[in-house]
Amino acid sequence: MRERSPIADIVGEHIQLRNAGGGNMKGLCPFHDEKSPSFNVTPARGYWYCFGCAEGGDVITFVRRLEHLSFGEAVERLANRAGIQLRYEQGGYVPGREQGERSRLIEAHRAAAEFYVERLSSPEAATGRRFLSERGFERADAEHFGVGYAPAEWEALARHLMARGFTAAELVKGGLAKEGRRGPIDRFRNRLVWPIRDITGDVIGFGARKLNDAEDGPKYLNTPESPLYKKSEVLYGVDLAKREISKRSQAVIVEGYTDVMACHLSGVPTAVATCGTAFGQEHIKVLRRLLLDQSGSHGEVIFTFDGDAAGQKAALRAFADEQKFVTQTFVAVQGDGLDPCDLRVTRGEAAVRDLIASREPLFAFAIRSVISRHDVSTNEGRLSALDAAAPIVAGIKDRALRQLYAVDLDRWLGFNNERFVVDRIAEISVAAQGAPQRPQRPAAPRKVAELTDPAVRTEAEVLKLAVQRPALLGPGYDTIGAEAFTLPEHVALHKLILEAGGTAAAGPGGREWVDRLLVVSTEALRPLVTRLAVEELRADLDGEGRYASAMLAALELISVGRSIEQLKSRMQRTNPVEEQQEYNRLFAELVALEQQRRVLRDRASGS
Ligand code: GTP
Ligand code: MN
Repeated sequence: MRERSPIADIVGEHIQLRNAGGGNMKGLCPFHDEKSPSFNVTPARGYWYCFGCAEGGDVITFVRRLEHLSFGEAVERLANRAGIQLRYEQGGYVPGREQGERSRLIEAHRAAAEFYVERLSSPEAATGRRFLSERGFERADAEHFGVGYAPAEWEALARHLMARGFTAAELVKGGLAKEGRRGPIDRFRNRLVWPIRDITGDVIGFGARKLNDAEDGPKYLNTPESPLYKKSEVLYGVDLAKREISKRSQAVIVEGYTDVMACHLSGVPTAVATCGTAFGQEHIKVLRRLLLDQSGSHGEVIFTFDGDAAGQKAALRAFADEQKFVTQTFVAVQGDGLDPCDLRVTRGEAAVRDLIASREPLFAFAIRSVISRHDVSTNEGRLSALDAAAPIVAGIKDRALRQLYAVDLDRWLGFNNERFVVDRIAEISVAAQGAPQRPQRPAAPRKVAELTDPAVRTEAEVLKLAVQRPALLGPGYDTIGAEAFTLPEHVALHKLILEAGGTAAAGPGGREWVDRLLVVSTEALRPLVTRLAVEELRADLDGEGRYASAMLAALELISVGRSIEQLKSRMQRTNPVEEQQEYNRLFAELVALEQQRRVLRDRASGS
């Protein structure tokens, strides 16, 4: 399974990876929140390691952690992806029942989506087809997005799926049906349905729009929380948009399914929408991973709002404590309140592209919308606009940016008196600091100890070589004593390597060698093994063998240096007259060590 699932491909479906040199790739860690990439992948060895959360593993651990799967489920998932049919035999690694709940639910959703699509062409779906065409969508567009129709029956889908072997319990668990008195009842009835897919393209839920106003229920109905569907992180359209989001370093957030369709069809293929929930922290995380581009810039996120105050407020609130993100946040609002879908129908596709192009930084947008609520033709109005906008400017944490917006605010209000505006903002910001502090955000994940001590760095480098390129070190490594290492975990790993047969037994190294180390490793030591398996070596290995022996010499040099220091301090405490014999012995030892140090110095410097 591992062989058929290249780690860079699997990881690359979830986060944007870029080359980090030395055969490594890097990206933003999907397991913790971070702004600069510390998630490393070494495709040649099949391992990942995150320096931020100090965790790592292979492709199976990655999928398990990411999707919260059991080992068996993760293997099954990868197998499906690679097109391999697993046979479950006795003694196989897939435990009984729990086996593949996720893939069963995915299968059920796939079948449901097909069922809905098929029903869209039935006579009873005429209202649904009219809805689509009134909004400017043709048949091919509906097909491209997989739009379907849920018939006005109680159990059409349930019967269809149960005839295919899915159980009532599975339908209820996945949110496709509800428990009824005589078996499951379809959740969506007489509605137009959009399949909601995860980033890999699997259908995980549906959004369904009411077609008959006279019927009960909300205008839109969504899949409830399920093992597949987590509403705080789903983004409609992300499967179609992910490549373009990465490529253009831009994501457009719109409000509804029809808006996503309209944008994509109008040449804005980076559009996604939340599904009936506000845009929140979890959505940000999903996008951040896609947005990190080759140059390390974080890209832009553009929100479109239909201009109503509630939407604007929601956006501002979402970023109240996320100022790093704010500088990448833009807003595009259509003045007359048309959403992208309406806009495309009434003004054409170019108007949709223009709307996105007219984006404005979030702060500018926020300040201007506050001003627009005041009558700035009078002194009184201008002053109250200033007082209303000042807290936004005062709240900008970046000093330089705050300055610039103060200048803008003066200009927008027409005071022509920067000093006055800046002072007013300062007063307000002092007053605001008196207010109770917002609770601190949770602490950042544990960072790996910075290996700043040169001795510790050398130790790590030698261990890295032993894990990654054992053949280069040769038998010299196996003769190193444990005292050459200072960090306890380094001592432990050195012992582990010797237990696994030493570098002499490692052959050319690679995948098998790392696997062998992981097998004999304790749980506690495993993260270190994977980290050293992916961490870049400090030299490019053109002069290969020589670098390895130089590092080995450097390591010995350090321990010889330590012995010399100890020896000298003992000699200082020894009286050369009264303890002449002892003194001479120490002195002879010192001379030998100094001699050894000279040899090692030469070797360490590569000559
Ligand atoms: P029209 O007003 O006919 O153009 O409808 P629309 O399909 O464009 O929907 P609207 O602009 O009102 O809503 C945009 C998005 O908000 C939808 O795609 C839904 O995701 C969400 N939404 C709207 N109404 C509801 C609702 O009643 N419940 C839920 N859960 N979400 C809704
Ligand atoms: Mn709409």
